[in-house]
Amino acid sequence: MATKKKAKTAKSRAKSSAAAKKVVKLKAKKPAAKVAPGNGMPRPSSKPWGQAGRALQGVKILDFTHVQSGPTCTQLLAYMGADVIKVERPGIGDITRGQLRDVKGADSLYFTMLNGSKRSITIDSKHPKGKEILDRLVKECDVLVENFAPGALDRMGLTFEHIHKLNPRMIVASVKGFGPGPYEDCKVYENVAQCAGGSASTTGFRDGPPLVTGAQIGDSGTGLHLALGIVSALYQRVRTGRGQKVLCAMQDGVLNLARVKLRDQQRLAHGPLTEYSQYGEGVPFGKATPRAGNDSGGGQPGWILKCKGWEDDPDAYIYFITQAPVWTAICDLIGKPDWKTDPDYATPPARLPRLKQIFATIEQWTMTRTKFEVMEICNKHDIPVGPILSMKEIAEEPSLRATGTVVEVDHPTRGKYLTVGNPIKLSDSPADVRRSPLLGEHTDEILRKVLGYSEKEVAEIKVSGAITAPDKPAKAEAA
Ligand code: COA
Repeated sequence: MATKKKAKTAKSRAKSSAAAKKVVKLKAKKPAAKVAPGNGMPRPSSKPWGQAGRALQGVKILDFTHVQSGPTCTQLLAYMGADVIKVERPGIGDITRGQLRDVKGADSLYFTMLNGSKRSITIDSKHPKGKEILDRLVKECDVLVENFAPGALDRMGLTFEHIHKLNPRMIVASVKGFGPGPYEDCKVYENVAQCAGGSASTTGFRDGPPLVTGAQIGDSGTGLHLALGIVSALYQRVRTGRGQKVLCAMQDGVLNLARVKLRDQQRLAHGPLTEYSQYGEGVPFGKATPRAGNDSGGGQPGWILKCKGWEDDPDAYIYFITQAPVWTAICDLIGKPDWKTDPDYATPPARLPRLKQIFATIEQWTMTRTKFEVMEICNKHDIPVGPILSMKEIAEEPSLRATGTVVEVDHPTRGKYLTVGNPIKLSDSPADVRRSPLLGEHTDEILRKVLGYSEKEVAEIKVSGAITAPDKPAKAEAA
């Protein structure tokens, strides 16, 4: 055995030396390209975590966004460390500054919560001098982000061709309501997108009208999609050296988030959707994915159940999931140990036609406890449940403050307010959450320090009307 092994080893040594010779030969023919260790990347930083700069440090964003969808995107990029320069119309600014105002004379929370960590410059994009300043910004920045109505950017003269000529490296990222097709020229707001993206038709109760959700999946959801597109384009630019267009249609973004409902649409062709409670109730399915009330969208049935205090507190509810692996624990908790072995209840398929009655029984138990007590008890048994948290409870939740998901910032005209910090946590890039800028607060600073205008030139710009509202003196621009 040992000799055999030796012979084998000698043979393989000979083989590998022949292979080595071959490599040498190959090398002699054509010297291999020198590949730096780490695939061309710098050596791993030895700086402490979180002190090696921010993820998007050095990236300059020309932020032409307004209302919600675009600003959500650029706020996320700012949290990641990008320098976001928000261009606003002199004297007016982003229309949301004045919408849903709660404090007289101060920017609304609508605006402040979507425009943190950015700088604001006022420029009239239709003024000749304004156009000149914008061209300089295009040359200086890496990404232009906009969510104007279709055609508005072109009408300003900022066509992709013009931008690309000035700065071939620039990424031009847009949110529009619809992609190319019959509706591409339409203006779109949040709820229009929820309706057109398949969310509204599948949300709500079967016997009620379509419903829009409170979560802004059309606006903030599309902003999130756009941010991913931008970061991907920045990454590709490292290889190609050139920018590109990034387009996110709100209809597409909503559909992406509602994809399980398109899944169900296709499943319908093969029979009823057994996890929908209408199946158990004997209600026939129509041709399209129906509204499913509070049914869970996945394979584990769930429903919203009342908890102690529900009579007075509209949020005293809990979402309860009858996850199959913990079914026996659920039976014990709710005082139905016989359901563990009863053939009508013991298996998931047996339970499907009885979900309404099962949840009504579980509710008898949850109504004897507060939602937090139910949560605590169920967690001990690994039963997935979720208390219905009010915004008041979320605003006051210490753990969300501790993680920086809810952040208090101070604002010169409105005082302290809460904002949502970066929901994406990077271990080496702590979020940079700062208050929103006043209208035109950084105009001067950007003209001088980013664009390099001289003292004299800035003075000329100030009287030109390109950065101030027509009827207001230059000084009022930062008011
Ligand atoms: N200087 C001069 N003019 C400016 C300017 C500036 N700094 N910034 C904007 N404007 C002008 C635009 O050029 C445009 O003028 P034009 O139509 O004469 O060319 C005008 O302001 C208004 O822009 P618009 O985008 O049409 O605003 P709107 O208030 O009429 O429509 C939306 C708002 C949201 C419906 C529309 O922008 C839209 O459909 N956007 C895409 C989808 C989207 O993001 N929707 C989500 C909103 S949360």
